[in-house]
Amino acid sequence: MSAPNGINPNVPHSARVYDYWLGGKDNFEADRRVAEATMAAVPGVRESARNNRAFLGRAVRHLTQLGVRQFLDLGTGIPSQGNVHEVAQAGAPDARVVYVDNDPIVMAHARALLTSTPEGRTAYIEADVRDPQAVLDHPEVREALDFSRPIALMMVAILMHISDEDDPAGIVKAYADAMPSGSYLVLSHLTLDLVTKQIADDYLAATKHQAMHRTPRTGEQIARYFDGFDLIEPGLVPVSQWHDTPLFPDPATWMYAGVGRKR
Ligand SMILES: C[S@@+](CC[C@H](N)C(=O)[O-])C[C@H]1O[C@@H](n2cnc3c(N)ncnc32)[C@H](O)[C@@H]1O
Repeated sequence: MSAPNGINPNVPHSARVYDYWLGGKDNFEADRRVAEATMAAVPGVRESARNNRAFLGRAVRHLTQLGVRQFLDLGTGIPSQGNVHEVAQAGAPDARVVYVDNDPIVMAHARALLTSTPEGRTAYIEADVRDPQAVLDHPEVREALDFSRPIALMMVAILMHISDEDDPAGIVKAYADAMPSGSYLVLSHLTLDLVTKQIADDYLAATKHQAMHRTPRTGEQIARYFDGFDLIEPGLVPVSQWHDTPLFPDPATWMYAGVGRKR
């Protein structure tokens, strides 16, 4: 594919690497090199990406059944099957979804593909998730979402791209503080807790020099992002196990996932 304005095809980007693992075609040579090198070094990476995507769908379906009608999806990814508004509006046609990503490719596809039901609403903004105020004050966000009613804050496979010096916990808190009690946090995160020491070492060696930032975190660190939220059952679990048995058998499990309700 040719590169739209504003994107450098020579620098791997998480949206496109993830798209490759999901079986998409919106990726460049540099993205495929990172994706393939990681897959060659350790088992289960592609399966975890697919299980993560399946978790996203299950969480949205569950929250829609609980009556949630508003979703703020941070780090949307290239539109794939089962995007948030498709899952939410299948259960609740009046669901309102705002997508946020900072990859121009994501935005180009989002505008073309992410249409809404007439009763609901879908908006997309190009913004950096690390700047909560810019996202929260964005006119399209304010127009699409009612901050006096519960909102599902979706941080699915995004915080691992935010390094410690950018204060990921502070970022989660800034978004959560803007939302009323009864809102939800849907989160999944890369971890090395669930693989052997040898596999974890192989992963770190293979990814150390990759030009795509990822910070694996422990279950304890990830659980702290839920401060102020009560985890709903089954708690913080391997991503494939949240409300299901694995769709794609995991040779190794790389992600934790959980959903919490704001007190
Ligand atoms: C691994 S994908 C996850 C996509 C989707 N949430 C899912 O789980 O299926 C991570 C996404 O986060 C986006 N992203 C990474 N850092 C970001 C930032 N600082 N601001 C906005 N988006 C970001 C990437 O462009 C990519 O689309």
